[in-house]
Amino acid sequence: MSLIMKPFSDKHKAILFIVLAVSFFSYTVVLYVSPPVDRPLEHATAVLDGKALWQKYNCNACHQLYGLGGYLGPDLTNVYEKGPDYIKGFLVTGTNVMPDFHLNNEEIEHLISYFKYLNTTGSADPRSFKIYYDGRIEQ
Ligand code: HEC
Repeated sequence: MSLIMKPFSDKHKAILFIVLAVSFFSYTVVLYVSPPVDRPLEHATAVLDGKALWQKYNCNACHQLYGLGGYLGPDLTNVYEKGPDYIKGFLVTGTNVMPDFHLNNEEIEHLISYFKYLNTTGSADPRSFKIYYDGRIEQ
């Protein structure tokens, strides 16, 4: 028995090529016929203003969105579930560990709109995700 593998015959190479080509094209078709879920942005300007404030005050230095950011404060992806008044409480005065940014009412409303929108985009806790055999993730 020879230790060197016999090279594929041209016929086998052609079959392998066809199998790979068919798999590639079928997978491509499957990906393109199932587009990502389209979420309309409600009150888009307030949400975008809120996002701009999030960046301006660098809230991400202490907080995470989808688990990414600083770790002094908690993840805020789903903080809206605790209610707008709860969020307002932190933004109006700060706490002994969270600074008071002296935000006006409009800024607070815009940040709350941003949190409301973020909450519709998914969950921050990866333990609740369902992972499929092909690598897709469902929340
Ligand atoms: C210097 C770090 C720091 C920055 C910057 C910061 N925070 Fe915080 N934040 C904290 C900490 C720490 C807590 C937890 C406070 C506590 O429990 O007393 C917190 C709590 C919160 C909470 C309540 C979260 C919960 O689930 O209880 C909200 C909402 C919040 N911050 C929003 C913001 C927003 C919006 C900004 C930007 C304008 C911001 N934070 C900037 C440190 C920060």
